Amino acid sequence: MKASDTKATLSFSNGGQNVELPIYKGTMGPDVIDIRKLYAQTGMFTYDPGFMSTASCESAITYIDGDKGELLYRGYPIEQLATNCDFLETCHLLLYGELPNEGQKAGFTKLVTNHTMVNEQMQFFLRGFRRDAHPMAIMTGLVGALSAFYHDSTDINNPKHREIAAIRLIAKMPTLVAMAYKYTIGQPYMYPKNNLSYAGNFLHMMFATPCEEYKVSPVLERALDRIFILHADHEQNASTSTVRLCGSSGTNPFAAIAAGVACLWGPAHGGANEAALNMLYDIQKAGGVDKIGEFIKQVKDKNSNVKLMGFGHRVYKNYDPRAKLMQETCREVLGELGLENDPLFKLAMALEKIALEDEYFVSRKLYPNVDFYSGIVQRAIGIPVPLFTAIFALARTVGWIAQLNEMIGDPEYKIGRPRQLFEGSPKRDVQPLSRR
Ligand code: CMC
Repeated sequence: MKASDTKATLSFSNGGQNVELPIYKGTMGPDVIDIRKLYAQTGMFTYDPGFMSTASCESAITYIDGDKGELLYRGYPIEQLATNCDFLETCHLLLYGELPNEGQKAGFTKLVTNHTMVNEQMQFFLRGFRRDAHPMAIMTGLVGALSAFYHDSTDINNPKHREIAAIRLIAKMPTLVAMAYKYTIGQPYMYPKNNLSYAGNFLHMMFATPCEEYKVSPVLERALDRIFILHADHEQNASTSTVRLCGSSGTNPFAAIAAGVACLWGPAHGGANEAALNMLYDIQKAGGVDKIGEFIKQVKDKNSNVKLMGFGHRVYKNYDPRAKLMQETCREVLGELGLENDPLFKLAMALEKIALEDEYFVSRKLYPNVDFYSGIVQRAIGIPVPLFTAIFALARTVGWIAQLNEMIGDPEYKIGRPRQLFEGSPKRDVQPLSRR
């Protein structure tokens, strides 16, 4: 951390002693005021539920400029990564800090590929679920269960264990997501095929059956790979912060990532892609483009609790760069499949146009986020709606594990333990039951 020459001074209107607080500068983005000694100096905590103004950690992985609508992984713009690199190169970048050269890429791909199978016992564990269970319910269980199968990589304080757990998680997530899908539709599981690419292998495990040869479409393979790249990391979002907090207790990496999966499930986070597509279906059913006006009216009504899903973001106050790339991929995939006139895509475009011109959205700087178009692409690929968030979890695993390893590798890390402003009853005595 680089200290700034400037210091912040906290003063109190009751004449209490001023407190000087150090300021640190990052390479980009807002400076931070160091309040770590505030409690010792003043006996007070700071109050910031929702972390509106609080940096919870130092990180060198991902940077978002919300006003410009810019997303960088290790300094590289997401647009360049999505255009020039594949997902495994991106994983290498996030995990180790640099894009791989040719030799490193081949080595990393081989390493991940060698770990794509899961313990055969996993399918018996899966059998305990109802066939109609939500895939995210299954994924929360399966990812947590990995710690029961891979005892040799559960010591979070051992760098070798962290490294192998990272590779195992990245390699096995597609296998687990595909197994969760096959289970719900009653088809046999397809073992991974290691001569295919990461995305190609996932398509194969999802859509192949033992009865027929399955040919991976290069356009769909590339589209899926791009979905993975766009979702790979997003700095200190809710699920990543969950993974960090969970891991800060020293729990094993599989348990920490399972906590991230659980957090991602929520509709304000990763569950938004599923919610966005269901919203489009509902508008379509109600009458399509003609009903947009009525829907927007509901969204603007504070008492309705209706949100325009796939719109708005805590950090982006401009167009989410991932949404632009996703819209481009959407066109490519629909073109490849001969679905250029897909009514849901047309509806989404019309909805976006109307919202972007509406004072409610303009004044609040609400723009489409990654989830606005990702559901349409996934649906076109043939991925069922309830599986969307599981695909997000698959892709985000590398980000979670890179952030977790960054935290644990920092010699100064401490267990995360927020404080509170207590508003409950002061101390009181328990009365006997007859007098309560
Ligand atoms: N539709 C209608 N109004 C909205 C929306 C929306 N999608 N998003 C924000 N607003 C309004 C909100 O009601 C508030 O209005 P007011 O100032 O009058 O009270 C204002 O905009 C500020 O919103 P906020 O809720 O304070 O913002 P936040 O930073 O707490 O929430 C968010 C961010 C993503 C949870 C929210 O925008 C939202 O719920 N969006 C829909 C769900 C969604 O698409 N989530 C995916 C996020 S991107 C993928 C990911 O990272 O997981």
